[in-house]
Formats: sequence, C-alpha cells, structure tokens
Amino acid sequence: MRLRMDDFRQQARRNLPRFVFDYVDGGAEDEHCLRGNADDLAALRLVPNCLRDTTQIDTTVNVFGKTWARPLGIAPVGFNGLVRPKGDVLLARAAASQGVPFVLSTASNERLEAVRAAAPDAVQWMQLYVMSDRAIAEQIVRRAAAAKFDALVLTVDVPVSGMRERDLRNGFKLPFRPGLGTLWDLASHPTWSLGMAFSGSPSFVNLTDSTDAAASAQVQAALLARAMDRSLVWDSLAWLRKLWSGPLLLKGVLHRQDAARAVNAGVDGIVVSNHGGRQLDAAPSTISVLQGVVDAVEDRIPVFVDSGFRRGSDVLKALSLGAKSVFVGRPAVWGLAANGEAGARDALALMGSEIERTLTLLGASSLRDLSAANVTRSWSSERQVA
Ligand SMILES: Cc1cc2nc3c(=O)[nH]c(=O)nc-3n(C[C@H](O)[C@H](O)[C@H](O)COP(=O)(O)O)c2cc1C
Repeated sequence: MRLRMDDFRQQARRNLPRFVFDYVDGGAEDEHCLRGNADDLAALRLVPNCLRDTTQIDTTVNVFGKTWARPLGIAPVGFNGLVRPKGDVLLARAAASQGVPFVLSTASNERLEAVRAAAPDAVQWMQLYVMSDRAIAEQIVRRAAAAKFDALVLTVDVPVSGMRERDLRNGFKLPFRPGLGTLWDLASHPTWSLGMAFSGSPSFVNLTDSTDAAASAQVQAALLARAMDRSLVWDSLAWLRKLWSGPLLLKGVLHRQDAARAVNAGVDGIVVSNHGGRQLDAAPSTISVLQGVVDAVEDRIPVFVDSGFRRGSDVLKALSLGAKSVFVGRPAVWGLAANGEAGARDALALMGSEIERTLTLLGASSLRDLSAANVTRSWSSERQVA
C-alpha cells in the first residue's frame, strides 16, 4: 500500500540497484542540507481558519498564461534513463496526466524534441546547464524554442558538482561502466538489469545535435567532467535573452540580494532551490529563506520553490509564505522506479490529494486564501534547538 511518499521511496529502494537508488536519494557531504530541508519543513505548523465554506475547492494556479491543476510540478532530474528506460518521456506523460508541468533536464537521456512530442499539450519547461563550450547551450536553447517549450530554466547552483559521497563509495562515476563491485548489485535486481541490457546504457543525447558518434562522445565527456562555465555571470543573461524570447527563470537562488538582482535583470521567475541538498551542504533549507526572497521580489515576478517537499502540507506551507508553486524531484523519480509512468502519476496524485485535504482542513477554498498568518513555528522544535 502506498499511503505516503516514503512508501514510494521504499519501493524504489527495492527495485533499483543500490548505486542507482543512492544516486537519486543522496545529498552532498554530510547531507546536513538534505536533512535540513525536511526538518525545517516539519518545524513549521499550519494554523487553520474555521467556519469557512469549503464545499468547492480550487487548487488551480495560473503561471505565464497557463493553468496548472495544482501548485505542483516535476523538477529537472538528470539521468532518468538510469532509473527506467525512457524515464524522461514517462515522467513528462505522468505530469501531463495530472495537469502539472514537467521540467526536462539538460542531462536527460531522451531527445528534448521526443519528450516535448510525447506530451504536446502539457506545460513543459527546459532546464539549461551552461558548459564551458557555450555552443552546446546555444543549440539546446534553439532546439527548445523550436520544439515550443514553455519556459527556459537556467540552473545557477552548479558551478561545480557537489561532493556526493554515496556515489563515490558505491563506485558510481561517469561514464557509467559497471565494475566488479556492482555485479552483485546488478544480479540481485534482474528486472532493472534486463531493462538496461535491452535499452542500452543511457546517454546524454541533448548535448549534441549531431548524430556523429565522435562529436557526441566529446560533448558527453564535457558534461561528465561537469565542465560548467564558471565565467557565467549576471551580464551573461543578455546572451541568453538574445536566444530565448519566452519566460526565463533562474533555478538555485537562495540569497535575497540575488532575487532582487534577478528582477532587475529582467528574469521572469525564480526557483528557490538548494538542488535537493546535492550541492552546497552548508546551504540553508529553502523554506527558511523563502520569505526573504518573496519580500525582495515584491510581487514583481513569481517565486517557485523545491527541495525536500514530500507532503501536501509542505506545499501549502510554502504557498502560505508566498511561493507560487512547488516542484518535486525525488518523489517523481521514486514513483518512476516503483511503477513507471503509473507510479510517477500515483506519486503526484498522492501529493495532490493531500493538498486538497489540507486546504480544506485549513478552511481555505482556494490557494489565494492562504497567507503567512497560516504558518507558525513549532514550539516543540524550538525546545529541541534550545
Ligand atoms: C537524481 C537527481 C538529479 C538531478 N539533476 C538535475 C539536473 O539535471 N538539473 C537541475 O537543475 N537540477 C537537478 N536536480 C535537482 C532537482 O531539479 C531539484 O532541485 C531537487 O531534486 C529538489 O529536491 P527534492 O528531490 O527533494 O524534491 C537533480 C536532483 C536529483 C535528485
């Protein structure tokens, strides 16, 4: 029975080889940031209003001219093909079935045109990593525009990759070549292993427009080495603006000054994110900095948030503090690992039903009824801190 998000996680743990499960599940260094995201969400309480008509509940949200069924979406996750063959397509379809957006990673294993076409009527955003060879980013942005992605999300929290100790201990590094140490892991997960044997090792197909194998290997090597462009600065946004005329978002903003600067730079939206605790382990939880970012933005652009959201109540805490919507990474991937497209759909539907029930319990008939007055810090968590 899958009653809570952790049930999907446990099923993913059973279905996936250990090195794949840990790749998805893990965080950077001591995983302080990973745990902090969950702990700080748990330390907030929701204060309900009573005696309000909740006969009709409206969970829709309007973003850049489109209506989403719920204030929820799938965050960009690289290497979904390692979890399930065609994982990116399955996730895009799952999101579409729930009327929520899907963000495709630069490090996806399906071509962006194929993912867009798999759910043509759904809201799909394209996430961008800019590597030192900017021509790679340029071709991705041009293709995303031609394929009619609804927005471009520039990830700004990966100047280098975070230190993921679980991956190193599991001997999991790119390019993916299972060694002796992983053989037992593979043998004890035959369904996964057979799936990979039939579909072939997933590769980063969006990094080149070329079908030339040598060119492809070269750009893949660049991504694998995480050769990010560390000279990418605020002024570089003008370069992107020339290539992309639709909504442009920055993902990975935590500092309120950066939020204000993003507005002044003409960015259309911000995703407050610490990459799910996978980058700077000393980073604060996203819920703890959300209100500061919202205040700095002064309602001029929408603020989205991700990292550690596992319950409908978590989502409504963020919305009460001013977020427009919440994205989830691991929950969707756990669903994918548990049961493919249907599993990802069920994971999203679970959070959706929690959002509806919690909204009703709060005496709110619409997301617009929520405000910061609906959130308070838990006294018991403060006693723990003291
Ligand atoms: C396995 C994995 C791969 C990820 N790959 C990317 C990526 O390619 N691009 C990106 O911007 N964020 C990436 N992220 C971060 C997610 O977009 C998102 O910020 C994070 O997963 C949110 O936290 P949550 O997993 O706790 O919901 C990745 C996250 C995970 C778990």
